[in-house]
Amino acid sequence: MDRLIIQGGRRLKGEVAISGSKNALLPILAATLLTDEPCCIKGAPRLRDTYTMIKILRSLGKAADFKNGEIWVKSTSRAQTTADYKFVSTMRASFCVLGPLLAKFRKAKVSLPGGCVIGLRPVDLHLKGMRALGADIDIQRGYVVVKATRLSGTHIYLGGAFGSSVLATANVMMAATRASGITKIESAACEPEVVDLAKFLISMGAKIKGYGTPLIEIQGVKRLHGISYKIIPDRIEAGTFMIAALITKGEIKLTNVVWQHLGAVIDKLQQIGADIKKQDGAIKLKLTKQLKPANITTLSYPGFPTDMQAQMMSLMSLVKGVSIITEKVYPDRFMHIAELNRMGAHIQRQGPHAIIEGVKQLCGARVMASDLRASACLVLAGLAARGVTSVSRIYHLERGYDNLDEKLRKLGVNLWREKE
Ligand code: EPZ
Repeated sequence: MDRLIIQGGRRLKGEVAISGSKNALLPILAATLLTDEPCCIKGAPRLRDTYTMIKILRSLGKAADFKNGEIWVKSTSRAQTTADYKFVSTMRASFCVLGPLLAKFRKAKVSLPGGCVIGLRPVDLHLKGMRALGADIDIQRGYVVVKATRLSGTHIYLGGAFGSSVLATANVMMAATRASGITKIESAACEPEVVDLAKFLISMGAKIKGYGTPLIEIQGVKRLHGISYKIIPDRIEAGTFMIAALITKGEIKLTNVVWQHLGAVIDKLQQIGADIKKQDGAIKLKLTKQLKPANITTLSYPGFPTDMQAQMMSLMSLVKGVSIITEKVYPDRFMHIAELNRMGAHIQRQGPHAIIEGVKQLCGARVMASDLRASACLVLAGLAARGVTSVSRIYHLERGYDNLDEKLRKLGVNLWREKE
């Protein structure tokens, strides 16, 4: 197992190209189960999660190959409908094979995702949607077992206690593409990744309206065909690099980015004083004045993304004054607070709120990553800290950041890996 060693204190300078979106890719790969025809997914990022989803597709009888940013998925005669615990327990997103398998084979057996450090992550909304479409659902020995003689379109309210659900919307939308009649998903998630999935499905021949709004309408069709499709860039990777520039008082340009997907993040960064220029497919940013404290509340899209909360906290820990971050999507998503405080930050947690008293300087220390975005937060803190920071368990980072070390090195960072 590796750890990342970061020599802090260098200003980031230069240009970085953003990779394809992990959270768009994973449900789109699951959607290839809806057809027997070959599919080619372009712009795919080289992530641990990408390879995990490829393993799951292979375990379900698909031939899947990843080369030069392209993933080819082809059918074989060995189609299966069971997604094993060994995969689903390592990556929750694999639960979204449930909808496509049910739609294609009218049955599926998918392991229930296990626990997660960022909080309770039930799948009740996914199951509610499948049941509403006409599936019988049973939980057997940690597996969700679904079957249906037929799937019929209906009206489904998919709102939950913490707002809409991204993967429940994706799962139900995929199942409804091959149900008879019209399905309406109310309180659907509006994330750009849901829109990208809908566009992928429409290119396969699905009939979907209202994607990107809280009311999605799907007219079921008999069959879907194979296609070649380029996925959207990763808005969370882009947001992470924007904070990397600001926390090091640097100046960078991001390319292959859709700034429209970062509305709430750009708005908040401008509010605290960042100088941001939006261009077609690019963002330029630098720091021209002292940043101001602010209050941030995470919400479903288009609100401030929870996947940017930890990274934003590392920045606000160095902004003079008091900032408050309220986590409304995963109220317990604060594993990174203790590690930031080890680096000299002054952060207190009160329920779903983090009260951050800005400090002048963070100090390099040995810290431990607990999850994907927490590891990004610690790397960002390490970039700004005085001295050397050692971030262990960086396998979390590799799940969602494509070649981060190299990209940071190119922007002038002095970092290297060591065996734990
Ligand atoms: C997606 O997870 C993302 N993952 C997460 O990103 C992201 O944090 C999350 O959306 C919220 O934006 C992928 O796209 C692969 P949700 P998902 O269902 O779909 C509750 C990252 O860092 N809920 O939108 O699993 C749930 O507990 C990852 O890249 C129910 O109550 O999240 C949460 O509080 C981490 N019942 C809220 O809804 C359900 O059936 C939103 O979760 C489903 C969810």
